[in-house]
Amino acid sequence: MSNREFVDLRSDTVTLPTEEMLEAIRHAKLGDDVYGEDPTVNELEALAAERMGKEAAVLVPSGTMANLVSLMSNTKRGDLVILESEAHMYWYEVGGISAVAGLLPWPVKSKFGALNPADVETVIRPKNVHFPEPALVCVENTHNRHGGTVVSPQQLREIGEVAGSHGLRFYMDGARIFNAAVSLGVDVKEFTKHVDNLMFCLSKGLSCPVGSLVVGSCDFVERARKNRKVLGGGMRQAGIIAAAGIVALETMVDRLADDHCNARFLAEGCAKIDGLGIDLARVQTDMVILDILGLGVEDAMFTSALKAKGVLAGAIGKGKVRFVTHRGIERKHVKHALRAIEEVVSELSSR
Ligand SMILES: Cc1ncc(COP(=O)(O)O)c(C=O)c1O
Repeated sequence: MSNREFVDLRSDTVTLPTEEMLEAIRHAKLGDDVYGEDPTVNELEALAAERMGKEAAVLVPSGTMANLVSLMSNTKRGDLVILESEAHMYWYEVGGISAVAGLLPWPVKSKFGALNPADVETVIRPKNVHFPEPALVCVENTHNRHGGTVVSPQQLREIGEVAGSHGLRFYMDGARIFNAAVSLGVDVKEFTKHVDNLMFCLSKGLSCPVGSLVVGSCDFVERARKNRKVLGGGMRQAGIIAAAGIVALETMVDRLADDHCNARFLAEGCAKIDGLGIDLARVQTDMVILDILGLGVEDAMFTSALKAKGVLAGAIGKGKVRFVTHRGIERKHVKHALRAIEEVVSELSSR
């Protein structure tokens, strides 16, 4: 079976470009972006900066490179970076924060993904010959491993105040920042105005095939452009990526609300199934995380049983299985997934 025949709820990264994106790619005006001469890239970068209320933006191939470039552009080697202990940068980016950027990540636990400002204050130590220089506080919004939870503008303001009062920069991995904005029904600038700089992804719920943007002040973006080049991320006729990105920013943001409704429907259905654990308070955007520890099986066994019923989900460890809704997943697919989950739970419970 190809993935097209499954209800694929592993991630919103599996979304395919829309017809309008493919058309825009076909007709994009192109140039050499390393020379700054790709008009479509320039247009996307200007649009991204404007949407985020910042001075400038630079297009990079992936969210992982966006985070790495941003870390490198906000710090110097040997600095200390405070981040949430379940952060994508800490878990899933191959240790690039240390291996490439040369930084010491300092993980801080939180309940729902938003760092507690008092905890941030505690880990910022005074200058001392023994300590690395603290340089940066990072947040992730929405927070992936916490289940797509939103770090609110108010929480960002409070964390940012602590960072700023100690002279630290404040960065947001906003891979899914539009999900956060749509969830609270506010303009994305309500979030971005509290951070010095951020990245967001085009290739998740916004359905683009590839691309992320690093956004901030002109100085920061100039450094980011150079660090992108160091990492080999300078692209030539990148307008073929940017063309889809422009369509995404103009047409794909509001529909994220449908994904959130579908995730809620799935979560409420799962909450009625005996044997599953689910924290409905965490279901704020497009993700649903089930706790299957009560079934006494490995997550991989659960996801294989689901796959046999035509549903793909992600095993994320410690008895947790993740489902993500996105464009292409309609209510009928969510109902199919719910039925499959119910059957799998019943089969595994009666073993
Ligand atoms: C919060 C977060 N940040 C960064 C990334 C990395 O993005 P990419 O897969 O484009 O490298 C992801 C990917 O899922 C993510 O969820």
